[in-house]
Amino acid sequence: MPIFIDRADGGILLDVDGNQIIDLASGLGPTALGASNRRVRERVSAQLDRFTHTCFMVTEYESYVRVCQWLNKHTPGDYEKRTALFTTGAEANENAVKIARYATGRSNVLAFQGAYHGRSYMTMSLTSKEHPYKTGFGPFSESVFHAPVPARLQAGPDEVQSSLRVVRDLLRENDPATFAAMIIEPILGEAGCVIPSAGFLPGLRKIADEHGILFIADEVQSGMGRTGKIWAIEHEEVIPDLIVAAKALANGMPLSSVTGPSEVMNAVHAAGLGGTYAGNPLACEAALAVFEQLDATGALDSATRVGEIAHEVLYPLVGKGLGVIDVRVRGGMIGLEFGDEGTLAPRADLASGVSQYCQRNGVLALTNGIHENVIRLLPPIVIEESLFRDGLQVICEGILALGSEGF
Ligand SMILES: Cc1ncc(COP(=O)(O)O)c(C=O)c1O
Repeated sequence: MPIFIDRADGGILLDVDGNQIIDLASGLGPTALGASNRRVRERVSAQLDRFTHTCFMVTEYESYVRVCQWLNKHTPGDYEKRTALFTTGAEANENAVKIARYATGRSNVLAFQGAYHGRSYMTMSLTSKEHPYKTGFGPFSESVFHAPVPARLQAGPDEVQSSLRVVRDLLRENDPATFAAMIIEPILGEAGCVIPSAGFLPGLRKIADEHGILFIADEVQSGMGRTGKIWAIEHEEVIPDLIVAAKALANGMPLSSVTGPSEVMNAVHAAGLGGTYAGNPLACEAALAVFEQLDATGALDSATRVGEIAHEVLYPLVGKGLGVIDVRVRGGMIGLEFGDEGTLAPRADLASGVSQYCQRNGVLALTNGIHENVIRLLPPIVIEESLFRDGLQVICEGILALGSEGF
């Protein structure tokens, strides 16, 4: 967007011309606690006075260890765990696959349609959408297979079982004993906040167990309180083997993590994993500030409240002749899908029209989705209620304005 930012906080972006924009994107998710969170600033500033970098692989520092300890304790699974830190979401997903391959001695990976896992080579292979992420960049890994995800909009009563059947068939066809891992976003962010139908994730967990396949939850976008729980997968009570975090982990500072059972994480030989900037000390301090606030629970409650408000305001628009065919809400992860109300054919023009209306009227509301027909909202989870309502009001006005233009 042609907007240059001068300052930002927990819901307002102030541009260099003095315009105020309501932020319903949080920089694609990371600044969940606000773009100038006080505790993050305090901890990072104090760290700046001590040192900015040593490389944890060379000389260690305590904040890295404390971040790992918190993640070991707060990820699902009542067993001994280890965490390794990295810098970006893609890098952490790459490392999750490396760890899974090493620990299982297998190479294939099952991913899912609509998935987005990053822009590095392995994660482009795991990502399913061709354009704009993969066009012209191939070839990609031949050891990645994609299966469908059932979700409410298209789901018939038997959709979960039939999707699990596709997964079983796909594994059988390619020999399940060659699969190191299956990787899934518990809520598929770039696909348009697609929430897999209830029972699908537990069904996948069962299949993974049957074949000794590791279950990787990519919580880069959905994790760290975004959905009202620390991890989105907690809503389905599934315990993944490896859980990947990034984005809101350090509230906008570059930090990512892979957490899993000690025996899996420790399988890799010494110095097999790492990176110059992995677990940067400034980013670790930011993460510790995030943990303080998640431990205090107010932030999680606030994410839940954001979801309740979004549901209250947006859900009544579904099926009212305005082209809104679905509203998906889990805390501060919100998807508003546009299409033909009879055939459900996607209407990217409506999503883009509403997004542009919002931009003209001071609200940042971005489009995404497999067909670019979704407005995906990721407001700061601590956004003030009145500000969030103002932002939603502009979205509603945009939808009505497009409707009155003859939709
Ligand atoms: C679910 C998911 N995984 C991985 C990534 C990649 O993270 P990064 O851009 O930090 O590499 C993203 C980024 O949007 C994401 O949403």
